[in-house]
Amino acid sequence: ISRKGSGLVREIHEKQSMNKSRQRFWELAGSKLGDILGVEKTAQQVDADKAEVGEDGEVDFKEDAKFAQHLKKDEAVSEFAKTKTLSQQRQYLPIYSVRDDLLQVIRENQVVIVVGETGSGKTTQLTQYLHEDGYTSNGIVGCTQPRRVAAMSVAKRVSEEMETDLGDKVGYAIRFEDVTGPNTVIKYMTDGVLLRETLKDAELEKYRVVVMDEAHERSLNTDVLFGILRKVVAQRRDFKLIVTSATLNAEKFSQFFGSVPIFHIPGRTFPVNTLYSKTPCEDYVEGAVKQAMTIHITSPLGDILIFMTGQDEIEAACYALAERMEQLISSTQKAVAKLLILPIYSQLPADLQAKIFEKAEDGARKCIVATNIAETSLTVDGIFYVIDTGYSKMKVYNPRMGMDALQVFPVSRAAADQRAGRAGRTGPGTCHSPVPEIQRTNLGNVVLLLKSLKIENLLDFDFMDPPPQENILNSMYQLWVLGALNNVGGLTDLGWKMVEFPLDPPLAKMLLMGAKLHCLDEVLTIVSMLSVPTVFFRPKDREEESDSAREKFFVPESDHLTLLNIYQQWKSNDYRGDWCNDHFLQVKALRKAREVRSQLMDILKQLKITLTSSADWDMVRQAICSAYFHNSAKQKGIGEYVNTRNGIPCHLHPSSALYGLGYTPEYVVYHELLLTTKEYMQCVTAVEPHWLAELGPMFFSVKESDTSLLEHKKKQKEEKTAMEEEMEYLRKEQAERKVKR
Ligand code: CDP
Ligand code: MG
Repeated sequence: ISRKGSGLVREIHEKQSMNKSRQRFWELAGSKLGDILGVEKTAQQVDADKAEVGEDGEVDFKEDAKFAQHLKKDEAVSEFAKTKTLSQQRQYLPIYSVRDDLLQVIRENQVVIVVGETGSGKTTQLTQYLHEDGYTSNGIVGCTQPRRVAAMSVAKRVSEEMETDLGDKVGYAIRFEDVTGPNTVIKYMTDGVLLRETLKDAELEKYRVVVMDEAHERSLNTDVLFGILRKVVAQRRDFKLIVTSATLNAEKFSQFFGSVPIFHIPGRTFPVNTLYSKTPCEDYVEGAVKQAMTIHITSPLGDILIFMTGQDEIEAACYALAERMEQLISSTQKAVAKLLILPIYSQLPADLQAKIFEKAEDGARKCIVATNIAETSLTVDGIFYVIDTGYSKMKVYNPRMGMDALQVFPVSRAAADQRAGRAGRTGPGTCHSPVPEIQRTNLGNVVLLLKSLKIENLLDFDFMDPPPQENILNSMYQLWVLGALNNVGGLTDLGWKMVEFPLDPPLAKMLLMGAKLHCLDEVLTIVSMLSVPTVFFRPKDREEESDSAREKFFVPESDHLTLLNIYQQWKSNDYRGDWCNDHFLQVKALRKAREVRSQLMDILKQLKITLTSSADWDMVRQAICSAYFHNSAKQKGIGEYVNTRNGIPCHLHPSSALYGLGYTPEYVVYHELLLTTKEYMQCVTAVEPHWLAELGPMFFSVKESDTSLLEHKKKQKEEKTAMEEEMEYLRKEQAERKVKR
């Protein structure tokens, strides 16, 4: 895999060789590793899936329970846990030695920044200390996490330490999943969840303390929360805010809140020896694999952690490691210690993620191959060796193209230090930080949210690092095009409703148009299916079989309708797991879709929107068109399209329902564009050209050949005057409202 060249060419190159090695991976790795990766199912697993569906077809989510089991198992075998009770373990954490001082500083200050290395006990202990110090007698303690897995696993751990059931005194909430109850006093959640709570309760009345954990990760939501929480702090004297951070950003955070104190938790002193590769690696996957094998053969026992950029590379590396081990075993006479190869990335199902916590059998070594998920979110004890490839993938928004794309970047010095620290103690060192997400991503959601919080001028919002003006304006333009903002940038009725849904703006619009076009039931299913990982299951050696199974579900003019068809058939087969297996569908993804669907249904009920159903699927396609006309493409050749607005070429993917039709529709809309070997449209639906003009009038109009140029000009002028009048009216209205307030 060559890292030469740059930009798209490099990306394409990578993908190609990645796909090749991935294919070989499936061929060679055999069922065991495939098993770990969740790709091949043994008969036992299929049975287990069946068992999860109750007799009445009700679905029981066991993932979390499985996760918990694994954590328990881990504790049972870990040397330390064998001899120490949970409360003794708590006292061994570095934060314990400064508990009273820390609580004192918190009592005396409204905002405190807490700095301490990973594993010092910030995430699990801070909330408990606050509880023990009486803060939960009137209100609860909330703790935000940048990642879902972290919120879940930490809540589980703390509930065990406090000897309470998960969801009782200690709970968690992530998008589409709320495991808290009336007794909950410590609540872990993703920062996105807390952000949405500010919609209903701008001053966060129910929280006595909020801990913003891992704030240095600077997720988009964290950054917006910073601005909002600064207001809450100013308005509520009884409210406390604690921000935990790596050393790097602590000073900046302190300044943002008005030079608040920074509390340092003293670290443990396990030195980490950093060895640099002498030359930049031509192929960092290969380089990392070689290094891991060298360590395994020559160095004393202790687990290995390798950082890669994404799922593809992780799979490629796992494959290469398995292959190398096989070669080694067959070529040497001596006994070779076992190497347990464990991938982890966010899309991996939770029970498989949990495997990294299991202790390897005696004499064996674990080798965890991870994305940056393992940088801060998950703590695995027993890591002795860290191999850092020095790259990570980041989502970047290109405002000119109006597109998000994943790109590979070298990691920052800070992230590299953090990665090194996973083996022990980070050496001192500061350097430039990575570009915060807010400066590089699509802001549609944030803009909608801030608008609903009545922040009229977004360019004035308290951003720690304001996003480029171009990104804000572009996102506002997108929202205006969707009809969520009016001509003076205020929320429309549609916009107010869209805010209620934890969905990207176009998906929220699709849902609301489904209601308007009386086909909400169908659109609701499609939106839910688009919110989960792929439902198609394509195991190695059975590609043809699974492809023909997929084809049986095809609705010729639409991948969206194909998804709808699948869900409806699953439903009429009592949501059965074995039915999914028979039809090469991922039961887990479908169950998640069902869960998401019921959550969205609750929101629709709250908004008093009634569920309508239509047998006319043209209506459904119109609802899709009304939300995705900005992603429309016109046919250019067979399977070849160009984006109607910017002329970017885009292709039908061979797996699309529209691919083998024999004819291709002239106009389509698509869910998203995937930059791989080609620009592939993901999830495509054929649309009528006049729908585009009706539903996206700001982009499209029907050319009427018999109208003269003069008439056309006249019409344009009329439209312009009408718009100006409307703007004038809205401005006046806004000004009056301000005076009243
Ligand atoms: O937040 P910080 O990195 O400072 O530490 P923490 O996450 O509170 O972890 C403290 C200790 O709790 C770790 O060393 C782990 O052994 C343990 N822990 C656990 O067993 N399971 C979890 N899900 C999280 C932490
Ligand atoms: Mg932590």
